[in-house]
Amino acid sequence: MTESLAKFNAAHAALDYVKDGMVLGLGTGSTAAHFVRQLGERVRQGLRVKGVPTSEATRNLAEQVGVPLLEISQVSAIDVCIDGADEVDPAFRLIKGGGGALLREKIVAAASKQMVVIADETKWVETLGAFPLPVEVTRFGFALTQARVVEALRATGCAGHEVELRVSGKSNEPVITDGGNYILDAHAKRIVNAEALAAALQGIAGVVEHGLFIGLAQTVILGKDKGAEVKRL
Ligand code: A5P
Repeated sequence: MTESLAKFNAAHAALDYVKDGMVLGLGTGSTAAHFVRQLGERVRQGLRVKGVPTSEATRNLAEQVGVPLLEISQVSAIDVCIDGADEVDPAFRLIKGGGGALLREKIVAAASKQMVVIADETKWVETLGAFPLPVEVTRFGFALTQARVVEALRATGCAGHEVELRVSGKSNEPVITDGGNYILDAHAKRIVNAEALAAALQGIAGVVEHGLFIGLAQTVILGKDKGAEVKRL
């Protein structure tokens, strides 16, 4: 499988969910970027939609390709959110936040009538957790929060318990999110009870948001070298 082609094909298939006049949630990451570029082409051909971006990177790209934007404060509901994922399981539970945009992504997904996930087929897994789970935390007291995230992994039966502060490969400095926070990457390895882990993480002071998206996606489009497979719950 050619990853980039598969991502392009997933993004292309998601255009079927876009109708004239809609307000769209625009995801973050390389697959979502394929979607935003293809949406820009449709807009140039006359499609009238407005997008709510989930990151500054997506805002910049959407502006470059001519997709009109709205601030989240200007909308009461979003028709469809189209976003990538780092892992998807058969119950359409997701790990998101590999690109660090999980907080805005979750706010936009939760405000959407429908969430369509676009991903190359390698993202489909039986059990979540091989991809490190991103957890956005306040900078204040992050080491204490980190210790409590380790406890949450242990308490909910995860196979791995290492949690590391995400640092930039270039500067070796901590990555700062669009919201001004740090990201912890939780190496759970195997998440046996995603609902319990989500609840435990939500209960930790200092955790702003975590990358488990549960009960949000209704449609998953898995891109392949040729075409894409659409799955629905
Ligand atoms: C961004 O924060 C993430 O949630 C992305 O949606 C996820 O990492 C998928 O990224 P790719 O589409 O680049 O694989």
